[in-house]
Amino acid sequence: MTGPRGLFVAFEGGDGVGKTTQQALLADQLRAQGRDVVVTREPGDSRIGPQVRAIVLDGGELDPRAEALLFAADRADHVAHVVRPALERGAVVLVDRYVDSSITYQGEGRGLGREQIAAISRFATRGLLPHLTVVLDLDEAARAERVRRQGYVDRIEREPDHVHERVRRAFLELAAAEPHRYVVVDAGRAPEEVAADVAVAVEKVMRA
Ligand SMILES: Nc1ncnc2c1ncn2[C@@H]1O[C@H](COP(=O)(O)OP(=O)(O)O)[C@@H](O)[C@H]1O
Ligand SMILES: [Mg+2]
Repeated sequence: MTGPRGLFVAFEGGDGVGKTTQQALLADQLRAQGRDVVVTREPGDSRIGPQVRAIVLDGGELDPRAEALLFAADRADHVAHVVRPALERGAVVLVDRYVDSSITYQGEGRGLGREQIAAISRFATRGLLPHLTVVLDLDEAARAERVRRQGYVDRIEREPDHVHERVRRAFLELAAAEPHRYVVVDAGRAPEEVAADVAVAVEKVMRA
């Protein structure tokens, strides 16, 4: 990574695996240590994020390439105006979904090709990668049950089970290909147990 001084951590995995929950627990812990922590998400926390989110998640039929480019547009603005400035002042940035969500959902799930989506994301982010990506891994039945219990099912969530299985596998493959940048955490345990593993991985990266 070029330039920024802070620490950049991404939470990845399917809907319902606990990304938002773990992001909040880690933020609490780091703030208790006196750190400057920025909690943010994609799509949504760029200036165009609310509109992009509404189109992509709540809209009707959308061409898969249009969807991929909307996510990339949101990401470009998010990185330029939220993530990089925070890293440059030395903050810890915790992002709920980043490049790997595009590679898995659009590249793999929608069949656009992982490398093509990775290339669009590199353009959008000017190559900014997290120091650590936390992949929260949960079996499909448990994940779908958590989402059902929440009672809100978006357009992507309505994809059939086998798509979600492919997305899960793609996250695990990305992690396996670059183990120094990833930690895979078993998300099927109590939130505090998951958080303890996340904290260990983050401390390791901070010491490095
Ligand atoms: N470790 C866990 N065990 C059981 N339920 C969980 C756990 N972590 C989160 N949940 C619940 O599952 C749902 C999805 O969690 P959330 O953190 O919003 O996931 P995501 O951000 O990955 O979609 C929420 O209702 C949340 O309270
Ligand atoms: Mg969430």
